[in-house]
Amino acid sequence: MAHENPWPNEGNTGHFWDDDIRELDNPPPLWWMLAYYAGFVMIVFYALYYPAVPTPGGHTKGLAGWTAIGEYHEDFDTLNKWRSEKFAAQEQALATKSVDEILADKNLVDYAVATSKALFGDYCAACHGAGGAGNKGYPVLADDDWLYGGEVATIYQTIVGGRVGNMPAYGAMLTPEQISNVADFVIAMSNGQGEDASVAAGREVFNSIGCAACHMPDGSGMAMLGAARLNDKVWRFSGEKSEVIRTITHGVNAMGEKDTRPAVMPAFAERLGDKEVKRLAVYVHSLGGGK
Ligand code: HEC
Ligand code: HEC
Repeated sequence: MAHENPWPNEGNTGHFWDDDIRELDNPPPLWWMLAYYAGFVMIVFYALYYPAVPTPGGHTKGLAGWTAIGEYHEDFDTLNKWRSEKFAAQEQALATKSVDEILADKNLVDYAVATSKALFGDYCAACHGAGGAGNKGYPVLADDDWLYGGEVATIYQTIVGGRVGNMPAYGAMLTPEQISNVADFVIAMSNGQGEDASVAAGREVFNSIGCAACHMPDGSGMAMLGAARLNDKVWRFSGEKSEVIRTITHGVNAMGEKDTRPAVMPAFAERLGDKEVKRLAVYVHSLGGGK
């Protein structure tokens, strides 16, 4: 609808509301226009300098040759260079010293422990749990109870060559009653009651059938074979009677036994290299209270 403009000479746009509110047609302030032009120049510069404009096959590469991944690699190289210079002496020592020599040097032990955590997380934690806390079926490393021995040189050998503990399956050799009796004896022994008359029948089986040859007559175990200590409260698998019966019936890593307990520690010498294995051996040793 056409209106009469009551303010014909003030440069308004001819839009009015509520009788006297009207839109004027003033130019924007100079500072605003300058910022606007500067912004426009920046956009053009940016679009030419950086990879910015999509093209059918990808995008323009930009005059600077910059990429985000390139910048990441550059930063990473800088960090690695800084690290390798700063820690060159420690890395050299880890590469050339034996684990026993490393253990004698407190600073080097601290360094090995500090640099092992990510490595342990990547290669070991899936089985042994975060910080070596153990998982069902996999031994705890963060305690003083060892199958093969907790000296740092032994731990080193374990990681280098792996371990496969072996216990025969007794399911075909013993009657269910004998197995039940010997399980009762093993459980009593773990509670310090191995001498009780009530488990005499199981003790007799233990000593006559060959258990004692690996686990020792007093149940103290044999590190050379990884034969678990039975006279303490730490269970490698489980102290439930049904689980103890399973171990005795089907053995550990017993060939041809479907229900045997699998217990394979893989060898890491080739996968990680000697220096990293030493680093981890010192770390695992520190988890076990250093014994
Ligand atoms: C695939 C699972 C698996 C992975 C991965 C693994 N382990 Fe093991 N590890 C085992 C098993 C199973 C045993 C017990 C072997 C046995 O019972 O004879 C074991 C035993 C050990 C022992 C001996 C414990 C003792 O009581 O004497 C050490 C030490 C050890 N592992 C360290 C490591 C380290 C360090 C890594 C990482 C480089 C690692 N393991 C990775 C499964 C694994
Ligand atoms: C050839 C040696 C050998 C003989 C013989 C043997 N064991 Fe074992 N036993 C082992 C080894 C090795 C392990 C530990 C396996 C592992 O952790 O990798 C083990 C583990 C066990 C465990 C599990 C312990 C736990 O902490 O969970 C029990 C229980 C056990 N044996 C009882 C027996 C009984 C009972 C006999 C005799 C009927 C016997 N063993 C005979 C080598 C033997």
